[in-house]
Amino acid sequence: MIFSQTPNYKPLTPATLVAMLSLILPTYNESKNLPELLPELEEVLRDIPHEIIIVDDDSPDETWRVAQELGHDRDDVHVIRRVGRRGLSSAVIEGFLSAKGEVLAVMDADGQHDMSILPKLYSSAQSGNGIAIGSRYVAGGSVGEWDERRHFMSRVATSLALKVCKVKVQDPMSGFFAVRKNLFQSIANNLNPKGFKILLDLLVCVPRSTEVEEIPFTFSTRLHGESKLSRRVQIEFLEYLYDVTIGRYIPLTFLKYCIVGGLGVFVHLATYITASSFLQEGDELSLFGFRVAVLIAIEVAIIFNFYVNNVWTFALSRLKGVAMLIGFGKYNIACVFGAVANYAVSSYLFSLGWLDIAAVVIGAFTGVVWNYTMSRFFAWKT
Ligand code: GDD
Ligand code: MN
Repeated sequence: MIFSQTPNYKPLTPATLVAMLSLILPTYNESKNLPELLPELEEVLRDIPHEIIIVDDDSPDETWRVAQELGHDRDDVHVIRRVGRRGLSSAVIEGFLSAKGEVLAVMDADGQHDMSILPKLYSSAQSGNGIAIGSRYVAGGSVGEWDERRHFMSRVATSLALKVCKVKVQDPMSGFFAVRKNLFQSIANNLNPKGFKILLDLLVCVPRSTEVEEIPFTFSTRLHGESKLSRRVQIEFLEYLYDVTIGRYIPLTFLKYCIVGGLGVFVHLATYITASSFLQEGDELSLFGFRVAVLIAIEVAIIFNFYVNNVWTFALSRLKGVAMLIGFGKYNIACVFGAVANYAVSSYLFSLGWLDIAAVVIGAFTGVVWNYTMSRFFAWKT
């Protein structure tokens, strides 16, 4: 049974078989699977003008080499070996951009997707529908053998994903679908290359009037090797959801920067408490001892902020080696005014007889507000 969201689904007819299909197979360590997959694909695509584009991210198991050998005597097989880059979505986008066909499709290269529905996906995407999805969640489809944990994760991810889609479907997270090239090209600039969620991203970017059909299939188990859907990919999925919602107004890097800054205040305080406990004589902390402890706390907080921002907030442009040392120097200069404000205010309050912890906390916040105001005044003057 075919579940259709569109009333005018046209079946495959000879007249509709003219458009070329470009099938993308993204691969990372699939060298054992390709030799089984390609001959079967040849059979399934026999009556459809097509090309197969294997996009491999320089797999350590040399999938690209296996692919080149398999495609050596075949005009319909192309291999893109990308170096220095990783990512399923970006591999698919790159494959789509280099495709010749009017209909673009993507399928896992590990045997999990039932290739026998490819002709249906092709004809559906071609004959009026913008997108045709190989769906595990419409009647007749299934996720096959999944443990409870993966079931649960997939249900949560799917319901979150549906909140951001322009067009509602049952399986927005499927990695198996076809799309008309003109539709893809009209939104290619808006796509997000992060993570695994290329179909979801298409559904976020297409016009609301786009017709989508879901064709059921049963998700099987992998032939060889293991899944690359790592924890990192799951975090990227959450970041993606943030990017397409709140992130349109508050960039994720800014949010992360604020979180780091907030934690930095705690680091500052904790360091002060530790340092001052060494510097006090008996129960007494002198003004000099207080100032030294505050200076140590300021520098530790600066180191903490720089380190966490470098590896987390700005992970994509992370500084390493000498560049990191230079970056750290510049970061210290950028922090000088906030640090001076912090130091001056907390020392002053302490000298007035305030409780040291209160002086340190107020000093830290003065530093934060000072930095923010200065940035607003000089860098983002409105
Ligand atoms: N080029 C490239 N680069 N290909 C990759 C990368 C990458 O970084 N990561 C994974 N791939 C390829 C794999 O080699 C495989 O052919 C395909 O992309 C899917 O990766 P899997 O590791 O097999 O993913 P999965 O089976 O766990 O996840 C599938 O189901 C998800 C929904 O449950 C995929 O179809 C996902 O797209 C889908 O969202
Ligand atoms: Mn897979």
